[in-house]
Formats: sequence, C-alpha cells, structure tokens
Amino acid sequence: MTKKRLSIFASGSGSNAEKFFEHFKNHPQIEIVSVFTNNKSAGVIERADRFGIQHHVYNRTYWETGEQIIKILKEEEVDFIVLAGFMLLIPEKLVKEFSDKIFNIHPALLPKFGGQGMYGSNVHKAVKAAGETESGLTIHFVNEHYDEGKIIFQEKCQLEPTDSAEDIATKVLKLEHKNYPKVVEQEVLKSI
Ligand code: GAR
Repeated sequence: MTKKRLSIFASGSGSNAEKFFEHFKNHPQIEIVSVFTNNKSAGVIERADRFGIQHHVYNRTYWETGEQIIKILKEEEVDFIVLAGFMLLIPEKLVKEFSDKIFNIHPALLPKFGGQGMYGSNVHKAVKAAGETESGLTIHFVNEHYDEGKIIFQEKCQLEPTDSAEDIATKVLKLEHKNYPKVVEQEVLKSI
C-alpha cells in the first residue's frame, strides 16, 4: 500500500515539526516528504536536515499566488499539508487544491485570540493581558481566513495568576507536542 504523503510548512524554530519527524519516522501508512518555509534562517531547516527531509525556501512573493508551491507539492505527490508555526496566509488557490487537507495548530482556544497578528508570543501576551484562567491549543482545518477553519481538536490547560506570557507559552507548547502528530495521524488514517 502506498503511504499518505505529508508536507510540513513552518516559519520558525520547528519544535512541532520535529515531533512529526519523530512520530512518523517508521510509520507504516504515513510519511513526511518535505518541509516548506518562508524564512531561510528558520530553525526547522536544521531539524529537517537532521532527519534527512528535504526543504524548500520560498520568500513572501511566492506565497501570494502559491502557483510555484502547488507545482512542487504536485510533483512530490503530497496528500496533506501540516502548518506548524507557519506565519503567512495560505493562498486561496492552495486552500482550494487542498480542501480539508491542510491542518493548522493555534496556541490558544479559538475562536478567542485568533486572527491576523495573533501568532506565537503575541497570543500568549494577549491571553495574559485578558486575565484568562485557562488557555490551550486548537487544531483546525485551514480555510481562506486566518484561524477560522473547522475545529478538529482542542485541549485546555489551567493558568495561575502568577503565570507570565512565557509560562503560558511553555504550558501550551507542551500540549501541542503531545497532541498535534497524533491528531493529524487519526485524521489522515480516516482517509485510507
Ligand atoms: C506554536 O506555538 C504554534 O502553535 C504557533 O507557533 C508556534 C511554533 O512553534 N503558531 C501560531 O501562532 C500560528 N498562528 P514551533 O516552531 O516551535 O513549532
């Protein structure tokens, strides 16, 4: 049986991406075939190299239409895309080509603390400023708008009044690492 082929899009450190590389290393039905980034200094590149996974760097201009990206995804016969800290909006054409086949993780409980500009530490600072007693992660399908696609999975963590934005980030990232590869695995297996 041919394996389902996943590509990971990431703009930064890539700690979530690395959890995917580990989780699917010897998986019988799913494999990670490539990484795309918009940032030539992204930590995810070194992580992909370590796992022998090829990467592509395309600057912001290429992400406006998405045509070149789609061409490569087709050449690589990619079935699903996983956004793991990817900071640009996915072009409409790409969303249409991969309808319900692009996953995103957001470091808060959507629909709260989502939308343009709400990424990485900005999210945790906003959660802190709002005095929230809980936060968590959301895994959802991607549509044409930031953070608005169908929600697949959420998990909460409790926050203490003394937690800083960095403490909140640490708690949420731990939940992300625990859940993201497993939730994607379950969804992809449904398609087999
Ligand atoms: C993660 O916390 C992810 O939820 C967040 O960026 C971080 C990437 O960390 N994504 C967003 O904010 C998307 N709006 P990583 O590079 O170590 O995986």
